[in-house]
Amino acid sequence: MIAPLTTAVRDQPLPEIAETVIEVRNLTKRYGRNIVHQHLDFDVRRGEIVSIVGGSGSGKTTLMRQILGLERPTSGSIKVFGEDMSELDKDEARLMRVRSGMLFQQGALFSSLSVFDNIAQPLRELGKVPEDLLRDIVMLKLEMVGLPCKHASKMPAALSGGMVKRVGIARAIALEPELLFLDEPTAGLDPQASDEFVELISALHRALGLTVVMVTHDLDTMVALSTRVAVIADRKVIVAAPVEQVAGFDHPFIREYFLGLRGRLALQGLSPERRAKLPPEALEPASEAIPLRTAP
Ligand SMILES: Nc1ncnc2c1ncn2[C@@H]1O[C@H](COP(=O)(O)OP(=O)(O)O)[C@@H](O)[C@H]1O
Ligand SMILES: [Mg+2]
Repeated sequence: MIAPLTTAVRDQPLPEIAETVIEVRNLTKRYGRNIVHQHLDFDVRRGEIVSIVGGSGSGKTTLMRQILGLERPTSGSIKVFGEDMSELDKDEARLMRVRSGMLFQQGALFSSLSVFDNIAQPLRELGKVPEDLLRDIVMLKLEMVGLPCKHASKMPAALSGGMVKRVGIARAIALEPELLFLDEPTAGLDPQASDEFVELISALHRALGLTVVMVTHDLDTMVALSTRVAVIADRKVIVAAPVEQVAGFDHPFIREYFLGLRGRLALQGLSPERRAKLPPEALEPASEAIPLRTAP
């Protein structure tokens, strides 16, 4: 179903990695006595797909929410497109929201609105978009995420999990953002729907030159999409690099997450050139972990 866009951009080069678009410096975030982030630095450059990983409750969602301006840092600075998020006036904040699309794990769609109205909502919020243009934009976005127009009148409850995520993406890109934020986008999807989601994000990344920041627990999605992986542990980003480098970083969370059975299997999804850069521990027992298909 998503063939048209995926096929059209297959031979297109990946977006060039360019200037820094997100710059987080010495960030501290506290909720009462709970210190979530301390001395946290984080950068994203245009054209990247950066995955944020870390244990449950390590502050991945909180970091994303602060970058989006939905949550205020306790101290430190966050710049997006060179603008300090704490110094934006109302109009600048509005413009900033238009330049970023987001898909959160919970509440991906308004359950009381049809697919059409869900995708149209950010455009209507902007105001003054004529109805016929609005219709064209919504239908184009539906097509971009690989959903036939006939789904436009459906209610979210009538859609599969994978389709809900697609509509969520269609809404997130309605205003043609430069930055796309995804929080656990494949959580709850079956493996096939996850694979299709990866293809969709990859196609949109190429087609629109999007910069993507994604929180994920899903190792396969992370390996398939990320230009870099940022690991949150000990209240900060302890490393942010291509996954083959991260896997060799000496830290208990990284050993457990990347070099455990599931991690080693997922790392088999890397190209041979990138696999060659993995630490030996990531390679050694991986093949033994795969059930043998043919008896010797
Ligand atoms: N609005 C909030 N008020 C109080 N504590 C919060 C709030 N949001 C998150 N936290 C706390 O901040 C920590 C990090 O949460 P979160 O960013 O959701 O973690 P993650 O997404 O990595 O699982 C947790 O201890 C959580 O309980
Ligand atoms: Mg979270």
